[in-house]
Amino acid sequence: MKVALTGDRPTGKLHIGHLVGSLERRLELQNDKSIDKLYIMLADSQALTDNADNPEKVRYNVIQVLLDYLSIGLDPNRVTFCIQSELPALTELTFYYLNLVTTARLERNPTVKAEMGLRGFNESGLPVGFYTYPISQAADITAFDANVVPVGEDQKPMLEQTREIVQRFNYIYGETLVMPEIMLPKNSTSNRLVGIDGQAKMSKSLNNAIFLADDEKTLNQKVMSMYTDPNHLQITDPGKVEGNTVFIYLDVFCNDDHFAKYLPDYKNLSEMKEHYKRGGLGDVKCKKFLFNVLNEKLSVYRENRAKWENKISDVYDIIFDGTEKAKAVTNATCERVKSAMKIDYFIDKNKMVKEWEKFISEGTWS
Ligand code: TRP
Repeated sequence: MKVALTGDRPTGKLHIGHLVGSLERRLELQNDKSIDKLYIMLADSQALTDNADNPEKVRYNVIQVLLDYLSIGLDPNRVTFCIQSELPALTELTFYYLNLVTTARLERNPTVKAEMGLRGFNESGLPVGFYTYPISQAADITAFDANVVPVGEDQKPMLEQTREIVQRFNYIYGETLVMPEIMLPKNSTSNRLVGIDGQAKMSKSLNNAIFLADDEKTLNQKVMSMYTDPNHLQITDPGKVEGNTVFIYLDVFCNDDHFAKYLPDYKNLSEMKEHYKRGGLGDVKCKKFLFNVLNEKLSVYRENRAKWENKISDVYDIIFDGTEKAKAVTNATCERVKSAMKIDYFIDKNKMVKEWEKFISEGTWS
């Protein structure tokens, strides 16, 4: 049985960086016959570890992100969607795993360190829940018996931490937990799509993102404002394609059919790039083309989204049913874990009574 689990913190609408970094992979996985189960979790409890004072933000992004999933074509018949905070087994597992990790080990987590800086926790003090979220993520992953975890590069430390917990748990309590593998994006551009300003990473907080739900006008404005080659002032000037955001996006999103449809002057991207480098190709023409390429994709998502927005009651049922299934799976793992840890007192009265009687009369377990 091959199980894949991944998830997102519901703190904002998803953007095209998420699309190439992780969502397209999920679309592949939902059609991959070698994967028996694909779970996608809305990690709202984890989102609260650095948004404790802003519960509405998390609450309303649960539905936003869920609509993003559905609008790109993730299919509730093939994917089990669930809400983290509705799965009590995850909290319970976290509590036991806390004993298997030292503070020194937590301090070495580079992703957490970077996030601490971004969130000002170095100055304001570090919430314990945030500090320990890699352990709760290990609970997420192991509770589903996930073999594969498709995530971005930034999640590597979480997987390493999880694998250490699995190893230590199985060593102390016997083979119980499944050892997960990380599944990284296929290429580095997709791993970290730059923002429209050319800055290192597309992100909501940097205000440089194109959202999956952007309407046509917003998309157009964003594409037209994109960072290109600052030295390409006149159309006739030779231009640079390296570090030019428009071409970085075209590399990721366009194919030869797009040229036939929207820019028949060129057969393919390399012809277009050659012209840009020689000089004689203006930024506006490139941007119009990129707009058409992106809009073709996003217009499908917009249509789907509009349909789902008109049946929110069905969306509720999807996440409710998925969460019920996830509850059954994670509860079963939790029972297995507790048995391995010898804290399963009330599973079988006969067995427990016998064991206690034997201990009392013989002063030994076995
Ligand atoms: N930490 C992940 C992120 O920020 C979200 C997440 C929570 C997750 N639990 C998970 C990802 C379990 C994969 C598996 O994107």
